[in-house]
Amino acid sequence: MIAVLERLQARNEWTFIKALPEADPVLAASWWTLLLMRGLLPALFAIAMGLLVGAVQRGEPLAGALGLVGTVFVLMQVLGPAHLAVGANLGSRTAAYLYDRLTMACVEPPGMGHLENPELTNDLTMSRDFDLGISGPPLSTSMDFIASGLVEMVAGLASAAVLAAYAWWAPLLLAGAWLGTHWLLRESGVWKDRETDEVREAQRHADYAYRLAVDPPAAKELRLFGLATWTVERFRGYRRHLFELRWEATRLRQRPVLWSLLLVLFANLVVFASLALAAADGTLGLDRMVTFASAAVSTSMIAFGGLSWALDGAAAPAAAVLRLQDAMRRSGALVIGDAPAAQLPAREVRFRNVRFAYPSTPDTEEPVLQGFDLTIPAGSSLAIVGKNGAGKTTLAKLLCRLYDPTEGSIEIDGIDLRSLDLEAWRNRIAAVFQDFVRFELSLRDNVAPAGAPDEVILSALEQAGATGLADLDTILARGYAGGTDLSGGQWQRIALARALCAVQCGAGLVLLDEPTAQLDVRGEAEIFDRILTATRDVTTILISHRFSTVRHADRICVLEQGRVVELGSHQELMAAKGRYHTMFELQASRFAQDAEGPEGSEGSEGSEGMDYDVLS
Ligand SMILES: Nc1ncnc2c1ncn2[C@@H]1O[C@H](COP(=O)(O)OP(=O)(O)OP(=O)(O)O)[C@@H](O)[C@H]1O
Ligand SMILES: [Mg+2]
Repeated sequence: MIAVLERLQARNEWTFIKALPEADPVLAASWWTLLLMRGLLPALFAIAMGLLVGAVQRGEPLAGALGLVGTVFVLMQVLGPAHLAVGANLGSRTAAYLYDRLTMACVEPPGMGHLENPELTNDLTMSRDFDLGISGPPLSTSMDFIASGLVEMVAGLASAAVLAAYAWWAPLLLAGAWLGTHWLLRESGVWKDRETDEVREAQRHADYAYRLAVDPPAAKELRLFGLATWTVERFRGYRRHLFELRWEATRLRQRPVLWSLLLVLFANLVVFASLALAAADGTLGLDRMVTFASAAVSTSMIAFGGLSWALDGAAAPAAAVLRLQDAMRRSGALVIGDAPAAQLPAREVRFRNVRFAYPSTPDTEEPVLQGFDLTIPAGSSLAIVGKNGAGKTTLAKLLCRLYDPTEGSIEIDGIDLRSLDLEAWRNRIAAVFQDFVRFELSLRDNVAPAGAPDEVILSALEQAGATGLADLDTILARGYAGGTDLSGGQWQRIALARALCAVQCGAGLVLLDEPTAQLDVRGEAEIFDRILTATRDVTTILISHRFSTVRHADRICVLEQGRVVELGSHQELMAAKGRYHTMFELQASRFAQDAEGPEGSEGSEGSEGMDYDVLS
């Protein structure tokens, strides 16, 4: 019994039903009350009709019985629409509640492992769009299907209960037969196997093809590479595959249908034959006959209704959302200390023998960082160079504590990063990431998402060479009233201004990951000087492929295979004639060649503007 109960509680449907009162207790209570009332009406109608026929037969006054029949009839007409309205409202509330849960689950964890955890991807994919009407009807609509199914189920059971007044075996036989059809046709109505790898894969492909087609970012490549038809075909193909999987799983199968028919036919024959015999030999009066016969007919409602698929369609994503809550909390959790972080780093930032592999990477693969050891004196600037995939951005993410090292530690003035108050530490950091976010917000909010005085914002914009791009109140996205869009390099200046604004607001550690990659060469040199001035008093870590920016840093660190292979100032590294020197020379010669060529205008910049990757 307990095991059955536990199995029931582990079901998606159970989770969904539990979520309703959590979303809105009053609406949920009303919905269930209306459901129960609607469910009882057919049985009540059968009884009322029996009473009316009895009254007619006996020549008694009809007012009472007619009143009852009338009342039940009116309720049958009225409660349906009321239930529909309450259900739609409850569905919307529940969807909103689940979306709130989902956004919290995504945003709340201090780390970001939960957003990259492949085990959570499927639940996340299902949860993200569940109420948009893409994968099924939105909850406000499917609540009506669920309600109708449940009402019919209750009505069938209540009618069967009325039949018990005729003979104890009749409801068992009839209800049993109709319930049996649910079991026999279990493969026909419900798509139980929707969670298979094949379904998920097809869904993900279809989803991606759809996004490629409708989202603006892919528009350029779609056209340029002539991929329009390909995308449509792909979307169509995978969607068709999905439907085929669904049809295969839910197709009406001949044998179960035959068995269902036979079972239902047999049960009804027995019950109605018995009723007929009893009526014929006078043991069953006409009034009771009317009641029982209509109750026997209503019992069939047990078998009908779109309950299963509607409930399944609503319950699966609801359960996924609620599952994600805990799973994401665990997966994105970080140990959080309470040591104050104000004024840090005052002495140094120290990577001590750091080893790191992304949680999603299999153990068989080499970790991104291994034995990474580096001390960065506070107040100095350090440039990091290395091939694509060397782990430069990863270092920046570790410093922001978006992840923690697998082994070893990062220490700020000798304090393990993990024991610092996380929020306070993040407040100390100003960062421009390689894939920095372009907020569809005003210029003001783009520069100071957490707020800052306008004069600070304006001065940061000036330092980043981003004056005159737009008004502080202009929204940086077309599609909004008065909104505007910027070029890649202009956006990069805004991102820089964001970091410089944070510096002005007191950040002590600046992380710049390819901050000038999209700037024109002249703009880059000019802006970099300004950045150096603006970040003179803080610790700056600069990741770049461009030697024009790298060479100005106090020290340069060459990263290879997760380790520091060279470290020193530009002059020292050039003098050491190691890896840095080779790269630098190679690049310089390439640029010199370019300069000699007829179209070598870029080469006139000399080694400025060279890329590390050209060589590696
Ligand atoms: N979120 C992630 N999950 C799993 N692996 C990742 C993730 N991000 C990066 N990696 C892997 O970690 C390695 C280091 O990536 P990282 O982004 O730190 O390189 P990088 O040095 O910044 O390269 P680039 O010069 O191209 O920006 C790469 O092999 C990359 O595939
Ligand atoms: Mg990177």
